[in-house]
Amino acid sequence: MKITVVGAGNVGATCAQVIAQKDYASEVVLLDIKSGIAEGKALDIWQTAPINGYGTRVRGVTDDYAATAGSTVAVITSGLPRKPGMSRDDLISTNAAIVRSVTQNLIRHSPDVILIVVSNPLDVMTYCAYRTAGIPSSRVFGMAGILDTARYNAFLAEALGCSPKDIQSMLMGGHGDTMVPLPRYTTVAGIPVTELIDQERLQAIIERTKKGGGEIVNLLGTSAWYAPGAAAALMTEAIAKDEHRIFPCCAWLTGQYGLNNIYMGVPVKLGRNGIEQILELRLNEDELRLVHQSAAAVKEVMDVLDRMMQTA
Ligand code: NAI
Ligand code: 2OP
Repeated sequence: MKITVVGAGNVGATCAQVIAQKDYASEVVLLDIKSGIAEGKALDIWQTAPINGYGTRVRGVTDDYAATAGSTVAVITSGLPRKPGMSRDDLISTNAAIVRSVTQNLIRHSPDVILIVVSNPLDVMTYCAYRTAGIPSSRVFGMAGILDTARYNAFLAEALGCSPKDIQSMLMGGHGDTMVPLPRYTTVAGIPVTELIDQERLQAIIERTKKGGGEIVNLLGTSAWYAPGAAAALMTEAIAKDEHRIFPCCAWLTGQYGLNNIYMGVPVKLGRNGIEQILELRLNEDELRLVHQSAAAVKEVMDVLDRMMQTA
């Protein structure tokens, strides 16, 4: 099985490394537009194979889509990252042009590919890939919810002094400050989190999660890559191994949660064919209101993209 990762920057290279190390793909192709960067990073990653004991062949190429032909999954990480003071939405015009041309090239060489979008603004770039690709929405979706729940779970583990391995949670909405972590769907070894932490501390963790991307941008001067790269790799693993895993992913909604024609984070089941099912939770009134608020924020940026694509 061949997996392509487009963009050999911080997120793409990390994602390629995590995929290779898990040893379920025969080949990972890392592609970048800048000459030499994908080749160099792929060579370095490949040289960890004898050390870490895996056989996945990692190859880097410069803008050579022929090398990606026959990919089962492609992860799109190409695009500018955030700098301090920028929102994810500030990246829209530059990254839309990149995501559009990358999608066209990927589909030309791998018509059956499953696309996982990572580039920001995430929900709208996923929509851009979907509009461009002309393939079913079950094969075009975005990575954000796994990262956002990972942040939420990590903060909770720290506050509770417990292992992050025991925390299960769900989060919905767009990948931005309006995202909706769901305490009612958060458990620690099966125990509702609300039994273990007081409301004030939980709310502080929810607020920190919503701004989790910005916290790292402010520290590093660019956006995060270890957790985002690992999160996208986890999605490729669920597909490659046909695991039917349930994750929050950015998916195309057609009436679920009362929302239509929008890409946004919801719980989905992922397997060999991509999204097998969108799960509909029984949200209460408050949760549904927050999810609809988040959807409205995403829709505004989707409309900007629609207008851009009309005039392009
Ligand atoms: P980076 O700047 O380290 O890497 C981006 C790479 O894309 C560069 O190597 C660049 O040469 C390449 N690239 C640009 N145009 C290209 C094209 N047309 N074809 C192929 N490659 C091209 O950025 P980083 O940190 O890896 O972030 C990548 C994207 O992922 C950004 O848009 C960032 O905002 C987003 N991101 C999304 C997250 C999420 O949760 N969805 C989390 C973290 C980052
Ligand atoms: C993150 O959440 C910036 O989307 C990126 O780290």
